[in-house]
Amino acid sequence: MRGLVMGDGLGGETHGYDVSTGYTYGFCREMAPGWLDFAARVSGKAAPIARDGRRLRFLELGCGQGQGLCLLAAANPHIDFVGVDFMPEHVAHARKVAQAAGLTNLRMEQADFVALAEAWPDHFGAFDYVALHGVYSWVIPQVREALVTCLAHATVPGSLVYIGYNGQPGWVASGPFRHFAQLIKQTGELSGLATIDHTADLFGRLQSAGAATFKLLPGLVASVNAMKTRNRGYLVHEYLHDSWQAMWHSEVAQDLARADLSFAGTATLVEALLPELLPPPLRDTILAQVDPRLRADVQDFVINQAYRRDLFVRGEAVGGDVAETRLALLAAPGASETLNVRTTFGEMALQPPAHAPISAALSGGSRSVRELAAAQNRPVGETVKLLLMLIHAGTLFPHAANGMDSEAAHRLNAVIARGAAEGMPYDHLAAPVIGAALPVTGTDLLLLDSWLLSGEHGDVDSLAEGLLQRLGRLGRKPAEDPDQEAKKCAGIFLGQRLAEWRRLGAIG
Ligand SMILES: C[S@@+](CC[C@H](N)C(=O)[O-])C[C@H]1O[C@@H](n2cnc3c(N)ncnc32)[C@H](O)[C@@H]1O
Repeated sequence: MRGLVMGDGLGGETHGYDVSTGYTYGFCREMAPGWLDFAARVSGKAAPIARDGRRLRFLELGCGQGQGLCLLAAANPHIDFVGVDFMPEHVAHARKVAQAAGLTNLRMEQADFVALAEAWPDHFGAFDYVALHGVYSWVIPQVREALVTCLAHATVPGSLVYIGYNGQPGWVASGPFRHFAQLIKQTGELSGLATIDHTADLFGRLQSAGAATFKLLPGLVASVNAMKTRNRGYLVHEYLHDSWQAMWHSEVAQDLARADLSFAGTATLVEALLPELLPPPLRDTILAQVDPRLRADVQDFVINQAYRRDLFVRGEAVGGDVAETRLALLAAPGASETLNVRTTFGEMALQPPAHAPISAALSGGSRSVRELAAAQNRPVGETVKLLLMLIHAGTLFPHAANGMDSEAAHRLNAVIARGAAEGMPYDHLAAPVIGAALPVTGTDLLLLDSWLLSGEHGDVDSLAEGLLQRLGRLGRKPAEDPDQEAKKCAGIFLGQRLAEWRRLGAIG
């Protein structure tokens, strides 16, 4: 193991994790508590319940910049959140945002999993939800072992554990990129970002010169092309750590069994429709595997799985009733539009007779699965299958509670809009009605900042002006006809966005 020494602030062993560059500021919808509750119930497990006046508790291990956790905390004021990460700059970012937004239900802890495994602090206690996203397959085996010990400390019977990791066999074609990037990094001459650029450049030249391996591994072409548009901080954290191991589900399930965690089902909700929706010869071959671990791995081979989002549960936790879950409308497709649902196992086309009645039923506010099934005169099981596709397509969102306090989300969203105006690459707003976050564009955030600073009175002209000023300050290239384009964006913002965001509690 080649350990890097952390800079000021920690000074310790990073266990081969490349800390040269900060990570991205994303949001993972599958970590929202309401989503996890639904995923548990779809798998026949119970969702955590706050009993005897106790508040629910949520822990993220390896929370990166903590932006996702801030969004979740603001959108779920009834839950207490704790984030753990060992990179000082990540923890500092999350604390700064949380403080600026006055989030009182989020605590950030700068800590190393290895130290936590050895001595779990008493004040950490146990959690109803524990999430790890993009951590487990990027750390050395000893850190993975420490993470499992942390999971044993952090959970009690009934706790849900979400774990998102690079799966097999979808990364096979990326092996050569990762290998060369490691060798280039080991020369010690380049920074992390420069190592990525140098490796991408090498593959670009190999590809245009016709290197034979590109023909043998067509996925390598796609993977090298994708590098050109990916965030470079992400690429450093994807490829430059000493350990990078895409894992089979069976391996992860075996590891987590040590913490008395058993596999409940998938948090990539649409994959709960597998193997049923696969062509019969593939479906039957998967179902013929008696060992559930082999069945899961064969299924991943069939769909060339690249990223798994698994839900584990401590103990039994049976008895979840999927019909009780409530759903809210996010973005309804046009009433006569065919909705294309892109999944890891292909694309499905949902015709208006399938999706329009659900959107119509939800247009007046959120409904339970039971209510939606009754309104359509369909069995709950059949309705759930349709809902899984609509949720995956971003039309609906499963959520826990309704009509709660939106103040924290409004404060956080103002901080996010200000941050975007200062150049932060934020791309989500907290939406308390769904207990999660909404994807938004950078332009919409600049308009939101302009609108909020105008005392919420801005008209198309003044908002367009505000947008252009902000773009100018950020040194962004204006469009061909900047005034016209800015007015068009401001018009859509005032005419559509504000109403959509208000409906979901993102703004007041
Ligand atoms: C790829 S990032 C994922 C961050 C976040 N979950 C997300 O999806 O944005 C992995 C995170 O794990 C943290 N990490 C890695 N090894 C760690 C360790 N031994 N102890 C604590 N944090 C660690 C890193 O600092 C990094 O922020």
